[in-house]
Amino acid sequence: MNYTFDDIKNARNSLFTEKESKTPAQLLKSPAMGSLFELIKTLPNDQKAQFGKEVNELRREVASWEESEAELAVTPIDVSAPWDVNTHSDKRPRFLDQSLGSVHVLMSELGSITEIFERMGFVVEDSRQIDDDYHMFESLNFPLGHPARDDWDTFMTDEGLIAPAHTSTMQNRIMKKYKEQLESGEPIAAVIAGRAFRNEDLDTRHEHTFHQVEGVYVDEGVQVGHLVGTIKTFLTDYFGKQVDVKITPFYFPFTEPSFEFSLTCPFCAPESSNCPVCGGEHWIELMGMGMIHPNVLKEAGIDNEKYTGFAWGFGVERLVMMKNSIEDIRHFNSGKLEFLRQFGGN
Ligand code: PHE
Repeated sequence: MNYTFDDIKNARNSLFTEKESKTPAQLLKSPAMGSLFELIKTLPNDQKAQFGKEVNELRREVASWEESEAELAVTPIDVSAPWDVNTHSDKRPRFLDQSLGSVHVLMSELGSITEIFERMGFVVEDSRQIDDDYHMFESLNFPLGHPARDDWDTFMTDEGLIAPAHTSTMQNRIMKKYKEQLESGEPIAAVIAGRAFRNEDLDTRHEHTFHQVEGVYVDEGVQVGHLVGTIKTFLTDYFGKQVDVKITPFYFPFTEPSFEFSLTCPFCAPESSNCPVCGGEHWIELMGMGMIHPNVLKEAGIDNEKYTGFAWGFGVERLVMMKNSIEDIRHFNSGKLEFLRQFGGN
């Protein structure tokens, strides 16, 4: 029996097409390679040496096949895809191994935050990511042409839809939803968690997309002391230690009076001047809040002679940054694994 170079060439071609899906070690054990070795045994002695030499050359070549650079390069992962987009196109996509994922620190912290409010008797509601002029402005006591509309750097679509600049866009919906409950004698107590969007300059403390937790509480005889007490109780639970708080007058069209709320830095001694969390300022401004404006109650169909209420809205990132000494808000969305792994997962 005679062999031809084609036997080796054909074997090489078929190994080459399998190269994408198999490692060199697997290829060396494949049937195409095995049949060449089988062939050696059947050859006349004078052909064995030459053939064996060429098969060995092929073996060495296959052993040296590494994955090409393009395959080794890390392709950006589409995180919204439930499968591994790095899989080569000639293979079926594999579902991502769930054991390799972990909950993002912002989401796990948001879970702890809403859980504290749930324990305090609040219901938890989701906000929206697209809204309209009525909920962003009108229902919140910003009539058309109100100058304070310009204070909000909102993103708008050509059709006039709005990416909400704060979770206060939900106040009117929540009050309407729980109005009957209020009238039957049970207060409205809700927290609303969700994303907010602002067209502003980005820096270590500002992102165009961030998360807020809004609170809405309405009942008979509600006043500012209840608001401050509620937030102080929450913060003590969240940080696991007593914090001092202060409110200073501010302006929002949808609350009257309105306040800016600050707390003492939970991490530095009063005399320290180089605290990484507050930079030695000691007071950290955390959120806007106030007593819900009578016009806002009225717009939601609530009797503003009988009921009063308070609302607040704080940034989740700011709170999580304080708790974990994170110096730059942009880390959250950076996708940097060395950042994310500090908070568990793999
Ligand atoms: N929505 C305001 C903000 O984003 C905060 C706020 C909420 C103020 C509720 C008053 C009442 O700055």
